[in-house]
Amino acid sequence: MIDYEPDLDPRHWDETRALAHQMLDDMLDVLADAKNGPAWRPIPDDIIDGLREPVPQEGTPLRAVYERFKSHILPYPTGNLHPRFFGWVVGNGTVTGMLADMLAAGMNPHLAGFNQSALHVEQEVIRWLAEILGYPAAASGLLVSGGTMANVNGVAVARQMKADFDVREDGLAGNARLTIYGSTQTHGWIYKACELMGLGRKSFRAVPVDSTFRLDIDACRRMIEQDRARGLQPFCIIGNAGTVNTGSVDELPALRALADECGLWFHVDGALGSLAALAPEARERVRGQELADSLAFDLHKWGYMPFEVACVLIREGAAQTATFGHAPSYLAASRRGVSVDTTYFADRGLQLSRSFRALKVWMSLKEQGIDLLGRVIQKNVDQAAYLATLVEDHPALTLLAPVSLNIVCFRYDPGGLSNEALNALNEEVVIRIQESGIAVPSHTRLGEAYAIRVCIANHRTRRHDLDVLVDAICNIGAEVAGVETATSVH
Ligand SMILES: Cc1ncc(COP(=O)(O)O)c(C=O)c1O
Repeated sequence: MIDYEPDLDPRHWDETRALAHQMLDDMLDVLADAKNGPAWRPIPDDIIDGLREPVPQEGTPLRAVYERFKSHILPYPTGNLHPRFFGWVVGNGTVTGMLADMLAAGMNPHLAGFNQSALHVEQEVIRWLAEILGYPAAASGLLVSGGTMANVNGVAVARQMKADFDVREDGLAGNARLTIYGSTQTHGWIYKACELMGLGRKSFRAVPVDSTFRLDIDACRRMIEQDRARGLQPFCIIGNAGTVNTGSVDELPALRALADECGLWFHVDGALGSLAALAPEARERVRGQELADSLAFDLHKWGYMPFEVACVLIREGAAQTATFGHAPSYLAASRRGVSVDTTYFADRGLQLSRSFRALKVWMSLKEQGIDLLGRVIQKNVDQAAYLATLVEDHPALTLLAPVSLNIVCFRYDPGGLSNEALNALNEEVVIRIQESGIAVPSHTRLGEAYAIRVCIANHRTRRHDLDVLVDAICNIGAEVAGVETATSVH
């Protein structure tokens, strides 16, 4: 006889409630304290070993599991809560975003669509985001996991709308190769997209850039003409509103004109830079993104929201459902009841089961207001300009690229070293500064040069953090190079 039918709710709600409150308090302490402690620390071997455990056959009290989280997981992140985290393009998250994620997970709606409040929240934030970025109200949009997925969604729509055959129905076999154009600085998502869409990597035509890392428009036009002459079928041009390496912004209005001239779709990758449109002064730098047929941008980068959330907007509303819409009988909409708009969002992208990531966007924008958000973004732009002046003013530092938005690329150069030696020196500097826990810059390669790359998508950074960074780089650089220790510039 069954005397207990198992479920997964707590057996003792009061105990769980007390523990949940403690978790929240602990996490708020961590966030309030984010600037103290190292930006990064290596994970000790015994901690890694401690995480390698057999599949848990029997359960463990939640308190013990939580203690394990506190001892083995929480202390060893990449460091992106810290004000001197400047690596890759990684945001910080916020308290409001964290709370919203908890509420969304607790409510746990399934957002394929359906007749539920969460659908209206996502509709509303997409409408807000479209308006903020100057997109028409009739635009379609979708919240997705990140910039990669937002971009893939946009170029998939481009392919469906511009190919001269029905890609969904007939596939690619037997048809001319479809080609897509973007600068050599385009982020690696484009290769994944071409592979995934069955186009092959060769379909991405990497267009050279000028000395400021912006796509060379004449070269792009020539490549399109040559490809057409060879019987290929160009379908899309990608403009970058902030490249991953240097933050350069392509000449977006000119690319719109080129796309029109050639009859192509114009997609903008604004994963990094689109939200500069909120910043009082920097907004001019991304002007033209609103002209795109599709626009992909991240909220978990420069929107400072917790992972994962990005958005794709499609100017011609019907194009997105024409690309992804699918109506099996088990999801057919009814006239009333829960099944109204069953696949409203699922018809705009690949995912069917979707989380309520819209809640953190809604709560963050409402609580912060876009004026404050814009001022924080502007602060990061100003901080990047400040860092560039520190670099330019320092005899042992060399700026390696113009600063367009929030990325500064430079290297430590005490003089008298070959490029190869400088690359090795700077690689060691980046590693040592990370290991020191002072700051987390990342690196990239610009031409032949290994660059220290500082991306400031960090709402906690203060100007002083950049002084600390520059001092640390110069001191560590001098130590590695074996030259006299540089004195502090501050
Ligand atoms: C310009 C650009 N595009 C796309 C991406 C990919 O975005 P995600 O990491 O959110 O998938 C990035 C990531 O850094 C990026 O910088």
